[in-house]
Parts: sequence; C-alpha cells; structure tokens
Amino acid sequence: MNILLIGSGGREHAFAWKIAQSNRCTQLFVAPGNPGTSGLGKTLQLSITDFEGIKTACIQQKIDMIVVGPEEPLVKGLKDFLQDHKETKSILFVGPGKDGAILEGSKDFSKDFMSKFGIPTAAYQTFTKDDLNEGLKFISAQDPPIVLKADGLAAGKGVLICANHEEAKFQLGEMLLQEKFGEASSKVVIEEFLTGIELSVFVATDGEDYVILPEAKDYKRIGEEDTGPNTGGMGAVSPVPFADESFMKKVQERIVRPTIDGLKSEGIDYRGFLFIGIMNKDGDPYVIEYNVRMGDPETQAVLPRIKSDFVELLERMANKTLKDYKLLVNGFVSTTVVMVAGGYPDSYEKGKPIEGLDSAVQDDGVSIVFHAGTKAGAQGQVLTNGGRVLGITGQGATLQAALSNTYERVDKIHWESVNFRRDIGQDILKLGLEASQKP
Ligand code: AMP
Ligand code: GLY
Repeated sequence: MNILLIGSGGREHAFAWKIAQSNRCTQLFVAPGNPGTSGLGKTLQLSITDFEGIKTACIQQKIDMIVVGPEEPLVKGLKDFLQDHKETKSILFVGPGKDGAILEGSKDFSKDFMSKFGIPTAAYQTFTKDDLNEGLKFISAQDPPIVLKADGLAAGKGVLICANHEEAKFQLGEMLLQEKFGEASSKVVIEEFLTGIELSVFVATDGEDYVILPEAKDYKRIGEEDTGPNTGGMGAVSPVPFADESFMKKVQERIVRPTIDGLKSEGIDYRGFLFIGIMNKDGDPYVIEYNVRMGDPETQAVLPRIKSDFVELLERMANKTLKDYKLLVNGFVSTTVVMVAGGYPDSYEKGKPIEGLDSAVQDDGVSIVFHAGTKAGAQGQVLTNGGRVLGITGQGATLQAALSNTYERVDKIHWESVNFRRDIGQDILKLGLEASQKP
C-alpha cells in the first residue's frame, strides 16, 4: 500500500524508519519530512495544515493510508476534512477525528471526560476571565505548588507550576486577562499538584479494542538532574522498571479501559494513538494529560522495541481489526538522547553545519540517528534548523549497555553550541532498578 506520513520531527523520522521496514508498504510519502526521512520515502513539500494540498496529494499519489504524527492537523480536523470528500473518504486514517482530538485540544474537556468516567486524575476547577475572582479564591484554598493549565494547545508551554499563592494569582491574571498563551488561555484549569514519578503510556486503538505499546520515561527539563525550564523532551528510556505487571494492570483497569469505553459511549470512533501521561503516586496511577498522538522523543525509543510489522498494526488500527491482535516486543532496552541547539528552549541559532553524521549509516545495528530540526545544506552537508535537532537512540541488553551505545554515537556528532543531557537514565540506575530484559 501507499502510505502518507504527516509531520517533520524526530517522531516522524522514527515512524518512517519503521514503516519502511515493512513489505506491506509499497511507497512511503512524507509531508513535509526532514533530511532523515528523505532517504526512506518521497518528500512532499506541504504544510501539515494544508488540508487541500494533502487531499490533492492523496489523489495524485494514490494513497491508501494516512498516518498523522503531530496533534495540530488532528485537532484542526484533517480526518473530518478528508472524509467529507468522496475521493479521499475511504483512505485508511490513523489518528482521531476532531471529536476525539479534543482530548488533547481542550484540557477542560479532558478533565470533564475523566471525571465523568471515574478516571483518576488531579482535583481541578476551570475558570474564564468572567470568574477570575472565584479563580483567585480557589487558588487561596489550595496548598502550593499550584498547577495552572491553559485549556487549549500552547506548543507544549501552557502548563505552569507555581511555587506559591502570589505567583499562581499573578499567572492566572496573565493567562486570563493578558492572553499569555493567546486564545489557548482564555480558559484555565487549576489543579492539584501530584507528587510522584512520571510515565508515558502509549495505547494503539481501533476505537473498540486496543494494544499497549512499550512504555517510556521522558526527561522533560533542559538541565541535568531535572533542572531548568521544561522542553519537548531531552531523552527517553524504555522499558521503565516501575511499570511492572501489577502497576500496568492498574493502569489498564483504572485508566486505559475506562478511557476507551468512555470514548465509545460518547459516540467517538477513536482510531489512532493515545498517549497517556501518568503520574505514579505511591504506586497508584493518575492521568496528568492525554495526547492524541505518540510522544516525542519517546517514539524514538519505543518503536525500535516493536518487533511486529508496524504497518500491519497501523492498518488494524485504521480498519478496526485489532481484536485478538498480539503485539510482539523486543526484549532489549532502548534509550534516546536529544541533541539540541544551545539556548533551546529559549532563543537559539540555526544553520550550523553538523559534523560526524554519516548519512549512509543512520542505523548501525546498535544505534540510530533520528533527524528532527535539520535541513540539507548546499554542498550536501546537514545543517541545524530548529531547537531539537537530532535524537540518538541506542539499544542494549541492559540500561547501562543501551546508554553506552547511545552516548558513543552522540559523542561522534558535533556542531557549534550543541547541547544535550548526559544523565538520561541515571535516575533509574541510581534507584538500583536496573532495567534489564523484561519478558
Ligand atoms: P503537560 O504539558 O500537560 O505535559 O504538562 C507538563 C508537565 O507538567 C508534565 O509532564 C508534568 O511534569 C507537569 N505536571 C502537569 N500537571 C501536573 C500535576 N497535576 N502535578 C504535577 N505535575 C504536573
Ligand atoms: N515528550 C512529551 C510529548 O511528546 O508531549
């Protein structure tokens, strides 16, 4: 089948790498892709929200299945748009329609959804500028730290963890009155702070049945030992030792099953990935957020662990045949380190030549280079073109071995003012919970 993949980050490079391995894929197209995906599929120069352009490309290239990486086209209704046109109506589509994507598109909606279906999450209340005073009173009644969340999409920046009441009150005013995050913060969810260890759980569903993909731990802060501002993710590890059978059973019973059943009972035919950000609080799972896509950089660590034919999984999600499907997982440990531009997540420079990239050997058997913010330079060299530039994934029989393969590759690559964390996975090693092979 001909497959069109939408997106241009490290997650999409990992998708392309996995899709290209399947003999069910005749031709892969990536829109708009990056220099890493260009060796795996045909690049289509289209914006991810150019719905008309995507529709035309689907017809011209005889696309059989579309796979969407990022949330934005989903929240804006790409699936609904294509299903409204007779030429593109029957194309298989991996990703929810607008009705399902609102789980990520509106924090207020997702909190109401969890409360309706009894899914454990932090206590919360939602406010708009018309009830700012109630919001301020609500803040006074909470124990700090206090979590403020812009209701809508805010490029991963819409969550503020405020250390005290004064800061929370100030930020609530900034969000509601000064439109700190634009329209996205016209509603603000204020919620209880949950203490614990975070885990990223990935569900592949056809709206009826589901499979849980290998879980991952993400390293969100820019600085080592989890210091400094939040980023899109500086690294990932899979598997996660505390996500053992008994914890994952709780996740399935209390969170995944009620979520899938809840979507169904709301009449939402959700066929796609659902990424559930979970807090493990004293051994009990709570939902921090839903995302209607895979995580980045978690995907770069998780996909190499999938042994099954990935295109078959995607097809089953899209054509509702996941019942009785068994996903096969590789036993090794996989770790990803994200190499970023100096200055990220604030301002940074682009256009730096990257040294040490052997474009012919992206995957050398123990490590893989996934591109994100890169572009091809005039003389065939690769230049930095974003804050998150590369994701390096290594694998090994133990966490230590995976990390050593990852950093060995990282250390071969360099550009002016490159930055990355040296401590990915170290918290797990320190806990003495060495992530060796899991069945
Ligand atoms: P989000 O953008 O929703 O992923 O939130 C960003 C990060 O803020 C999460 O990954 C958590 O580390 C943190 N966070 C969000 N909500 C809470 C909460 N209720 N308690 C503690 N930390 C939170
Ligand atoms: N790594 C977190 C995310 O993709 O949202």
